[in-house]
Amino acid sequence: MARSADVARNQRYWDGVGADAHGPVARGHWEATEPSWGLWGTPEARAGVIPADIAGQRVIELGCGTGYVSAWLARAGARVVGVDVSARQLETARALRDEFGLGFALVQGDAGRVPCRDGVFDFAISEYGASLWCDPHRWIPEAARLLAPGGRLVFLRPSPLFAMCLPERGEVGPELLRPLFGLRRPWGHLPDEVWGRRRGATEFNLPHGELIGLLRENGFEVEELLELAAPEGDPGTRWFSDDSTVGPAWARQWPTEEIWKVRRAG
Ligand SMILES: C[S@@+](CC[C@H](N)C(=O)[O-])C[C@H]1O[C@@H](n2cnc3c(N)ncnc32)[C@H](O)[C@@H]1O
Repeated sequence: MARSADVARNQRYWDGVGADAHGPVARGHWEATEPSWGLWGTPEARAGVIPADIAGQRVIELGCGTGYVSAWLARAGARVVGVDVSARQLETARALRDEFGLGFALVQGDAGRVPCRDGVFDFAISEYGASLWCDPHRWIPEAARLLAPGGRLVFLRPSPLFAMCLPERGEVGPELLRPLFGLRRPWGHLPDEVWGRRRGATEFNLPHGELIGLLRENGFEVEELLELAAPEGDPGTRWFSDDSTVGPAWARQWPTEEIWKVRRAG
């Protein structure tokens, strides 16, 4: 499939301000001994993202960024390949991989056209990677191609509800600010002056019905959809981007993110 204009735009973004922002915070994630997920740090013990039998499995991370999810999987004994389109994000990932003494592969490439053979992976994962930044109509068929029959795909993305309520600046509230049926490019409607640091980048967030249809067309069966909420207590307000935040009051009523666990037909 031809490389899309979105890929070039997002590569530029992630080789620029995206890497400037994410590089300096990568070490904290690498140092984490317990994986946790999403804005509220949902513990792995509750999310169950990493299968208990992951040791020895062939794993691909699609949009691995600074590589901390790949690192968690490699530490659990998986044979990991991390793929990312951004050379600068991969530079950070390589430096930390070498510093932490882990031996997994890091490959520069587009998650919609991965330079690996068919059916060579048992598990594919994306955490705010291809799951948000690559067209699902490109990367989900590619994940299906890369997985062996019976292989599992797990991905984390913002919930469509969160994407509909997220303001350009300020705290998320209960108003719907954009339609569900435009979420393929939730930021695409914004004029240049409000793009800020996200200028020129494209995010994707398919509505549930379209996503389920796409997964099924590509031979995936949905095993679980986990909706992430703020924990009890006072976890404080979280930054989603440089310009927008979400507080626990919102995130106890509605999900900020969701984790999809799907399996390729055997
Ligand atoms: C928020 S970061 C991913 C977070 C990641 N879990 C980490 O460890 O940093 C998003 C990543 O998706 C990558 N990306 C965007 N479009 C992509 C594409 N088409 N193929 C592969 N990677 C892509 C970006 O380069 C960026 O590194």
